[in-house]
Amino acid sequence: MPNIDPQNLPKHVAIIMDGNGRWAKKKVMNRIRGHEEGAGSVRNIVKASREIGIHWLTLYAFSEENWKRPKYEVEALMKLLSRFLKGELDEMLNNGIRFQTIGRIDKLPKYVQDRVQKTVEKTSRNKDMVLTLALSYGSRQEVSDAIQKIAKRVESGDLTSEKITEQIISDSLYTGGMPDPDLLIRTSAEYRLSNFLLWQMAYTEFYFTPTLWPEFRKDEYLEAIEEYQKRERRFGATGEK
Ligand code: IPE
Ligand code: IPE
Ligand code: MG
Repeated sequence: MPNIDPQNLPKHVAIIMDGNGRWAKKKVMNRIRGHEEGAGSVRNIVKASREIGIHWLTLYAFSEENWKRPKYEVEALMKLLSRFLKGELDEMLNNGIRFQTIGRIDKLPKYVQDRVQKTVEKTSRNKDMVLTLALSYGSRQEVSDAIQKIAKRVESGDLTSEKITEQIISDSLYTGGMPDPDLLIRTSAEYRLSNFLLWQMAYTEFYFTPTLWPEFRKDEYLEAIEEYQKRERRFGATGEK
């Protein structure tokens, strides 16, 4: 692989896949076509991640706030999601990819929940890569849910308030047990987090690109990783070794 150091790969890459609607507009098509083309990029980036050796890939597919979109768009996204999971199952099984989700899955239509659950179960023994889709996900909702979980443990006497640590908070999030993202990619020239993994990204490196998600493919993904490898991550310490 050109210019990629296999010893210094991000362990966890998170992506805000944005710009499907604008891609469609540019092509004078409806937004749904943009989402369909975006699914092609998902396929491409999942495959590339597996080839490069990225262990954790987390994709922001539908935010808690995306429920505000017109009903026909939400319905189209749900259908596309279900179709995608069905279509990609063999690929995941053949490539050792374990599938999981973060977010309020109970808010999704029943047929999508069933498809999600089936995919999680069938891929549960895979060990080479973990593909996480954020669905009906919002970071602030995640933090509220975590606080409720912790408060209940305190109420029940299982925990005292002095014993609440960063580790306990991390473990109580939907991402409990996952490493924090090393690299965040956001496409389509938007420079914000849009309620994605706020706690987890305290020391994540950011890569922003004007490329619209349907046009983001392996070649630029490699560029993003190359750029990541040039960064010096200090975590608050001095740069001296
Ligand atoms: C990202 O593309 C996909 C989702 C949020 C589901 P958008 O649909 O947000 O595309 P733009 O931002 O309108 O171009
Ligand atoms: C963020 O994109 C959510 C996903 C990519 C799923 P949005 O397009 O919803 O974000 P905003 O509204 O521009 O911040
Ligand atoms: Mg958008």
